[in-house]
Amino acid sequence: MTASKKDLLSLFELSPEEISSIINEAREIKENRFTNSPEAFKDRTGVMIFEKPSLRTRITFETAINELGGHPINLSSNMIGMGKRESVEDIARNLERWVHLIIARTYSHETVEQLAKFSKIPVINALTDTFHPCQALAFALTVHERLHSKTKINVVFIGDGNNVCNSIMILCAKLGYNFTAVCPKKYSPNHNIFNRCCEIGKNTGSRINVSHEIFSAVKNADILYTDVWTSMGQEKEMERRKTDFKQFQINKKVLENAPSDILVSHCLPAHRGEEITSEILDSNISVAFDEAENRLHAQKAIIVHLFS
Ligand code: CP
Ligand code: NVA
Repeated sequence: MTASKKDLLSLFELSPEEISSIINEAREIKENRFTNSPEAFKDRTGVMIFEKPSLRTRITFETAINELGGHPINLSSNMIGMGKRESVEDIARNLERWVHLIIARTYSHETVEQLAKFSKIPVINALTDTFHPCQALAFALTVHERLHSKTKINVVFIGDGNNVCNSIMILCAKLGYNFTAVCPKKYSPNHNIFNRCCEIGKNTGSRINVSHEIFSAVKNADILYTDVWTSMGQEKEMERRKTDFKQFQINKKVLENAPSDILVSHCLPAHRGEEITSEILDSNISVAFDEAENRLHAQKAIIVHLFS
C-alpha cells in the first residue's frame, strides 16, 4: 500500500464524482450479485473492530468481504483492549502488517481518524458518534433507485441532528439535493458540519437548512428520513429525549401534510412508536428495508473504490 491510500471516514473526503461512481458501481454489483462479483478484495483480509453493537453494518461488511473473495475478521474492541491494553496508534501499526483493510465502529470520531493516520491501509468508518458515511451511501443508492427521474430531490431529516443526520446532510450537499434537518433547537446538527455543507452546496446547487417546524418542512419533501432519538452512548438521556422529541415523530398526521408520493426511510434499528410509527415504517411508502439491503451493495462498492 502506498502513501496515497484512501480512507472513508466522514464522506467529506469524496468528490461528487466519486460518490456517483460508487453508486453506479453499487447498482452493477447489486444487479450481478450472484453471477459476476468484482474481485477487488480477492485473497485479502479485512478486520472489523466494533466498540458498539451492530446488526446491519457487521453482517453486511462480513458478507461483502466474503462475496468479494476476501476474509473478514471480527473483533469487539474489548477483545483487543483498544486504547486500554494497547494504544489506538499501536493497534493501527500492527494491523497494517497483517491485513489489508480496517473497518471500525467507535464512539469518538478521533479514534477512526487515528486508525487512519497511523496505518498505511484503508480505514472505513462503520459509524462514530459524529458520522455514518456507509449509511449515507446506502441511502444514495436507494434514492437513485426510487427518485432518479426527479430533477431536484428534497430530503427532509426529522429528529436528532446526530451522526446519521450529519452524513445524510453531507451526501445531499455533495450531490446537489436540498436538505432540511427538522429538530428541536438544542438538537440541531453540529454547526461546523452544517456550515461546511452550506459551502459545498453553493457549488452543487444544494440548499441546506435547519427548521424546527415539522408540518411546513415536509410540504415539498420527496423523502423523509429519521433515526432514533437516543443514539448508542446516550442511554442516560433517554427519558429526557423522549419528552424533547415528542413533536418530531413521523406519523400519519405528519404525512397528511406531505406530498402524496412521499417516501420514508430510516437507518434502523427503529424505536417503533417513538421517532416513527409502525404503521408508517411497515407501509408501502417505507424504503427503510430496501436501504438496509443496499448497505451490502453500497459497501461492496466502497471497498472496490478504496482498492482500485
Ligand atoms: N443502521 C446501522 O448501522 O445498523 P447497525 O447499528 O445494526 O449496524
Ligand atoms: N444514531 C444511531 C444510529 C444507529 C445506526 C446511533 O448512533 O446509535
